[in-house]
Amino acid sequence: MANLQIGGIDCRDLAAVSGTPLLVYDESKIEQQLAAAIQGFQSEHFETEVVYAAKAFSCKAIFRKIQEAGAGLDVVSGGELYCAKEAGVDMKRIYFHGNNKSDEEISMALELGCGTIVLDNRMECRRLCQLAEEHKKNIQVLLRVNPGVEAHTHEYIRTSGADSKFGISIEKKEEIRQLLQPALDSKYVEFKGFHSHIGSQITETEGFSAALEIMIRFIREMKDIYKIEAKHLSIGGGFGIKYTASDKPIPLGDMAGMLARICEERMAAEGIDLEKLLIEPGRSIVGEAGYALYTVGFGKDTDTKHFLFVDGGMSDNIRPALYQAEYSCDIATRLGEKKDRTYCIAGKNCESGDILIKEAELPSSAAEGDLLVIYAAGAYGYSMASNYNRAGRPEVVFAKDGKARRVLRRETYQDQLRLEADEQLTI
Ligand code: LLP
Repeated sequence: MANLQIGGIDCRDLAAVSGTPLLVYDESKIEQQLAAAIQGFQSEHFETEVVYAAKAFSCKAIFRKIQEAGAGLDVVSGGELYCAKEAGVDMKRIYFHGNNKSDEEISMALELGCGTIVLDNRMECRRLCQLAEEHKKNIQVLLRVNPGVEAHTHEYIRTSGADSKFGISIEKKEEIRQLLQPALDSKYVEFKGFHSHIGSQITETEGFSAALEIMIRFIREMKDIYKIEAKHLSIGGGFGIKYTASDKPIPLGDMAGMLARICEERMAAEGIDLEKLLIEPGRSIVGEAGYALYTVGFGKDTDTKHFLFVDGGMSDNIRPALYQAEYSCDIATRLGEKKDRTYCIAGKNCESGDILIKEAELPSSAAEGDLLVIYAAGAYGYSMASNYNRAGRPEVVFAKDGKARRVLRRETYQDQLRLEADEQLTI
């Protein structure tokens, strides 16, 4: 019987100091993924940039790691932008996304000197050009277009592209030209190119190669027809990770390299000269580095099931309830013991759907006080956590070489009450 080690530290020691539920990141794994993406994503024909999608997991500590590794940062809200500023991120390396940015957010981006706004629609382009004029601030833009390719985990489909809430369909070239006109005419706004994102947790290359092919043809057409020249192309994120044994993702570095090769090929075929290709991985940078640790409570047997209750649940990881997402787990304090029973891992939130894992093979000796680990819990768990049932968000720890540091403290009852108000409104 052995205990799980994370970043060279026994999980019992981590739980003893920090309590549970606890999210522990093996910091070296984050560094390895960043390095693999950056090293794999190289070309002799154009510049490349790896941009971390903050929505997967954001806090000042991860933003600093992203910056140290030499990656850019994709943010989608004033909140993520503010956190990046407070972390000391170079604002020029920021790409501000979103389908409905407010004037306040756009103004904030301009004032902070944010490098690039990824425009989503006509209204936004117009507003940005007006606000850039008012603030007298320069900014670059990409336009998010929809290539009509939607990728899912094990397949990809071509859609009309008309149903996505994001971006504008590449079929609407004349509309795209009109949409971009204020940016092309602006003294402050510089049009750099196009952006597309085809989905998330994609484990195959076909969707990406189809999107690249379509995007590069589109770029050539916009140049031929309207003399609109795109110099930058971002193909978004979406690179899959291994949650369970059935997931067979392509290693991130290999995937990034493949995309650069496909882009070179398609550029040569279309006679297009891009200056820069970008990718925006989120999940694949932080997902597998994250370990969610829970303390096991009661084990309830029904006629058909063995439940194991843990001290967290959908409030710290909504993904199983929301997407039927699957994870694998272990009793972290009984590694190596025979897994001879199928358990249903249930959270403590007041909802029947609060099941973290429907069926997990674990040792039947699992007992109250053991620690349960959910693997690959580092992406979209904490960032989508809620205070449902007034559960506090868990503590987050970075572990490396036998040392651990707290990067987000556990949310207390007092923290949760900090927004309480009792003020008369003057209306
Ligand atoms: N770039 C754009 C424009 C995106 O919309 C996204 C994700 C990414 C990059 C990063 O994708 P990633 O490499 O992390 O797959 N909450 C869902 C995932 C939503 C992804 C939304 N956009 C989940 O938990 O699976």
